Amino acid sequence: MSSNDLRPQLAAAVRAAKLVAPLLRRWAGRPLSVRTKCSPIDLVTEVDQRAERLVRQSLTKAFPEYGFYGEETGHTTTASPYQWYVDPIDGTTNFIHGLPMFCTSIALARHGVPVVAAIYDPTRPELFTAIRGRGAFVNGRRLRVSRVRRLQDSLWSTGFPSEFRRTPHKFLRPFAAFQLTTHAVRRTGSAALNLAYVACGRLDGVWEERIWPWDMAAAMLLIREAGGRVTSMTGRATQLVDDHVFATNGRLHAAALRVWNRARRYPTPC
Ligand code: IPD
Ligand code: CA
Repeated sequence: MSSNDLRPQLAAAVRAAKLVAPLLRRWAGRPLSVRTKCSPIDLVTEVDQRAERLVRQSLTKAFPEYGFYGEETGHTTTASPYQWYVDPIDGTTNFIHGLPMFCTSIALARHGVPVVAAIYDPTRPELFTAIRGRGAFVNGRRLRVSRVRRLQDSLWSTGFPSEFRRTPHKFLRPFAAFQLTTHAVRRTGSAALNLAYVACGRLDGVWEERIWPWDMAAAMLLIREAGGRVTSMTGRATQLVDDHVFATNGRLHAAALRVWNRARRYPTPC
C-alpha cells in the first residue's frame, strides 16, 4: 500500500482521537474513581477505559480487519499485517490532577513498523499527524526537529517508570548527568507529548525506559518524519517490542548516548 493510500487510515485515527477529546476536557481534574494497576503510581480512571472503548469502536468500525493493541482494553490480533496502537490518555496522572499535559495517541503499524500517527492534545488544542514517507505535521504545519548541535544548548525531557521506587539511583544518574550537561531536563508526565515535542523542535531529546508501544508508536513516526532519530540506548533503531527509547534531533544523538551510557554504568550506591 502506498503512503497516499493511508490517508483514510489517518482520517480514521484523527476522528477517533477527536471523538474522545470532549470527554477528556470535561473530566480533567474532576473527582474520579482512580485505581492502580501494576504499582501504586500506575494509575487508571474510568475515563481512560471509556475513552479507549470509544476509540476502539470507532477504529474497528472503519477497519474491522485490523488488529488492535490498547493500554486499557488489551490485544486483539488478526490475520492483517496492520495493527492499531492506542493510548486513550497518555499522561493519566496529569489528567487526574488537572495538569493540562495529556493526549490521546493512536498509531497504525504495518508488520510492527508505524506508518500512520495521530496524537491529539485536547487542551491546547494540538493535533500531530504523520504518514510514513509524507512528513509530520502539527495542526497542518510541517514539523522539523531542532537544529541544536551542542548538548550544552539543548533541552531534554524524560519520564520515570514505576520501577523508580525500587531503584531510584539507576534513573537519577542519567537524569543528573543530563541536567548538568544541557540547558535543563523537564518531566512533562506524558511520553507521547515528550516525543512529539522532539519532532517539532521544542525539545532536542528524550529518553525513557519501561515504555510501552502505545506510548511511543505514533511519536516515533513523527520524529522520523521530522528528520530526527529514534533508537535504543545502544544506538540500534527502536522497534515497538523494545521497552525503552532514546530520541533526538539526530545531531545530538551520538554525544547524548555517550552521556547516558556513562551515567548508567556508574556503580549504584548501597
Ligand atoms: C505514562 C506516561 C509517563 C511515562 C510512563 C507512561 P500513562 O503513560 O506517559 O510520562 O513516564 O512510562 O506509562 O500511564 O499516563 O498512559
Ligand atoms: Ca494511558
